[in-house]
Order: sequence, then C-alpha cells, then structure tokens
Amino acid sequence: MTTRVEIINDFLAINVKPGTTIQDVVEAAGSALPFGCRNGECGTCVVEIVQGMEFLSEINEKERKVLKEVGVGANTQNLRLSCQMKIVKPNGVIRIKY
Ligand code: FES
Repeated sequence: MTTRVEIINDFLAINVKPGTTIQDVVEAAGSALPFGCRNGECGTCVVEIVQGMEFLSEINEKERKVLKEVGVGANTQNLRLSCQMKIVKPNGVIRIKY
C-alpha cells in the first residue's frame, strides 16, 4: 500500500508508504530540491503541490507562518514546506513542483 510521489522538475517518481516525509522522498529519489533549516523556519524547501494535497498531512503552524512570509501571488494555497509534510494515505499520486 504505497503512494506515488512525482517530482516534476527532476523527472523523478518514487512509491512510498504512508508515514514517509516528503524530505525523505526527496533525499531517497536524488532530487535537487534544496533544503535549509529542515525545521520549518527558513522557507527554502517550499514547493507547489500540483496534485494530491489530500494525501498529505495537514498544514502545521510553522508552515502557515513561513508560507505567509514567502508566498507571493494569489495561488499560495498549493504551497507547502517539504520538510514539514508527510504522506498520510496510500493509493494516491502526489505531484510536486519546485
Ligand atoms: S528547510 Fe527550512 S523550512 Fe524547510
């Protein structure tokens, strides 16, 4: 029971079990997505969720605060921090762009 995570920029896809963090996926897949603090404070790891938000953990307070600061433009509701979210449901497809 896995969910497929696709990192569009890198043409990478990986099937992972719920409970896996997106940071783990990025590192396992060999993506070039950059990280800074890895603690939800700097905003370096911000990504757009193109598809599959319903398969990810709820946005937390740290994300909400940082995304408010880094989010520009109208479409900020699809932005998330890779170091803070994890996959919570199987049998889905999550597409990420950075
Ligand atoms: S690496 Fe700093 S917020 Fe994710």
